[in-house]
Amino acid sequence: MPEESLRITDNRTGKSYDVPLYHDAVRAMDLRQIKKDDGDFGLMTYDPAFLNTASCMSAITYIDGDTGILRYRGYPIEELAGKRSFLEVAYLLLFGELPDAPQLTEWADKIAHHTLIHENLKKFMEGFRHDAHPMGMFVSTVAALSTFYPDARDVMNRQSRRMQLLRLIGKVPTIAAMAYRHSLGLPFVYPDNSLSYTENFLSMLWKMTEPKYQANPVLARALDILFILHADHEQNCGTNAMRCVGSSHADPYLSVAAAAAALAGPLHGGANEEVLRMLDEIGTVSAVPEFLAKVKAGHGKLMGFGHRVYKNYDPRARIIKQTAEEVFRVTGANPKLEIALELERAALHDEYFIKRKLYPNVDFYSGIIYQAMGFRPEMFTVLFAIPRTVGWMAQWLEMLDDAEQKIARPRQIYTGHELRHDAAYRCEVGTPVAAA
Ligand code: CMC
Repeated sequence: MPEESLRITDNRTGKSYDVPLYHDAVRAMDLRQIKKDDGDFGLMTYDPAFLNTASCMSAITYIDGDTGILRYRGYPIEELAGKRSFLEVAYLLLFGELPDAPQLTEWADKIAHHTLIHENLKKFMEGFRHDAHPMGMFVSTVAALSTFYPDARDVMNRQSRRMQLLRLIGKVPTIAAMAYRHSLGLPFVYPDNSLSYTENFLSMLWKMTEPKYQANPVLARALDILFILHADHEQNCGTNAMRCVGSSHADPYLSVAAAAAALAGPLHGGANEEVLRMLDEIGTVSAVPEFLAKVKAGHGKLMGFGHRVYKNYDPRARIIKQTAEEVFRVTGANPKLEIALELERAALHDEYFIKRKLYPNVDFYSGIIYQAMGFRPEMFTVLFAIPRTVGWMAQWLEMLDDAEQKIARPRQIYTGHELRHDAAYRCEVGTPVAAA
């Protein structure tokens, strides 16, 4: 028995139980012994939307939402975003330690060897309507990778896992860039493996007729920082989808597609696109008070504000705000910035937002930078999905190696009808013939 425990008295029976505490949590299965009588199923927990339920033990990402702390494998996000590259951070998330110089060279090289996609996949993408949403194209094409790599189904094979990992991290920027160029009617650009991960992505996005694309170093670094900030965020909706689908031993392409589908929603990664729409709707700084009044009256949300875990400033939003200044020095300021700054200032002084601990989250400023860099809002969530693929894969690997994990299958509390019978199934004498 662990040192700490909880004594629970069942007032229905008068019986007491000592339930062990692990990391300040009770195991829900320890409650099953609490029964009214021998025939009783035993106690369950009820927690819609997992407000207070840990679904796993994880050593990847740490968040303290009350003080606004985010760490990957113990390192503060500010330090990683300040000095490291996205591929270094990806290595850290996946393998637990930062790479040394030879490890990084080998890692970057291996990923670069998996950036091309099968020509048939290119044809698959060409089949999308010209105005298809890039996130829909991204999700579907990542799922389609499953049909190209049947070896990925062997999820318990470590060598195979490693191969799918390289393929996914290598190919998601290529798919994302193709989705973007398809929506603009531009020819696809093949990867250039002499460039860094982020520069190659920019080349696949923006290269026109020049022989080699030269990314602006400030913009390439800004994108790298944004990728670092978005790489993992413990058990959010998308990551939960990754673990849930992966727990059935579906292959990692299908699981990443499921996670990306979850990310697409406007309450999750889709919020960055919605922030831009909201700023467009507000239109001018002087219209901010009227907009906030509407939100407070229950007409819509302040997109890019609020978080299930952060009840303090999201540390990623703070770094993005600083990065925005560097980007704007190159691109010129995004006129929406002024509206966003005023919106933030007004909300942080407003009793409604203060009382509910609503602060800007990662999505509040990211869209403004992306737009200044030349992206259309439809592309913002895809830019989130590229780095988050690393986090999803890290969580997937951890889950597969966790002996306590099984197929995810929550319980329910049934609130429907008691047994009743369909009149059409009754025999002539009125006796039910089937109790379905
Ligand atoms: N604007 C106005 N009111 C809000 C907002 C908002 N953005 N967020 C929460 N509230 C209110 C909510 O109406 C509720 O009020 P009341 O207590 O009077 O009913 C209270 O604050 C608590 O909110 P909740 O909905 O119980 O909080 P939650 O933890 O279930 O939701 C959230 C978290 C992120 C879904 C929510 O804050 C939200 O919808 N924000 C806007 C969308 C957004 O920016 N999402 C990105 C999240 S961060 C990146 C990511 O996850 O990918």
